[in-house]
Amino acid sequence: MQRTLIIFKPDTVQRRLVGQILQRFESKGLRIAALKLLQVDRPLGEKHYAEHQGKPFFEGLIDFITGGPVVVGVLEGNEAITVVRSMLGATNGAAAAPGTVRGDFSISKQNNLIHGSDSPESALREIALWFRPEEVVDYTIDGSQWVF
Ligand code: TYD
Ligand code: MG
Repeated sequence: MQRTLIIFKPDTVQRRLVGQILQRFESKGLRIAALKLLQVDRPLGEKHYAEHQGKPFFEGLIDFITGGPVVVGVLEGNEAITVVRSMLGATNGAAAAPGTVRGDFSISKQNNLIHGSDSPESALREIALWFRPEEVVDYTIDGSQWVF
């Protein structure tokens, strides 16, 4: 069982695509461990995208991610990190394969709808950045039986 962070970026919220895309992840077999809607401020956006600081697209990216509310969540399941990344498709929506989220819904490099953690280290860092520990549900502690 693995956890990954996803962000429905402002374009997804503004285009009312949150439900449709979340459904893809649920249908695949991933379950929601955390989910919330919030307005991102610049310090949080800059921390999330710290690895891109100094790159030519950085300021535009921070303008974009702070430009409207986002929905951020934690998904969990078998190999969740690579499963979500492969479902997202290539970074540039114009190049992303049909059948992927970006390939089906985006034609832009910046406005590519969804973020997904790219490694176990990134997932741990990003989940801790966006959620307090008690906001992420541990499905195993109540002993409930899941059929899937
Ligand atoms: P990156 O981490 O390379 O892509 P991914 O989201 O697929 O992991 O880049 C982070 C975000 O920055 C990306 O989703 C969109 C934006 N971006 C640009 O606007 N222009 C660019 O040239 C690149 C590489 C990324
Ligand atoms: Mg990335």
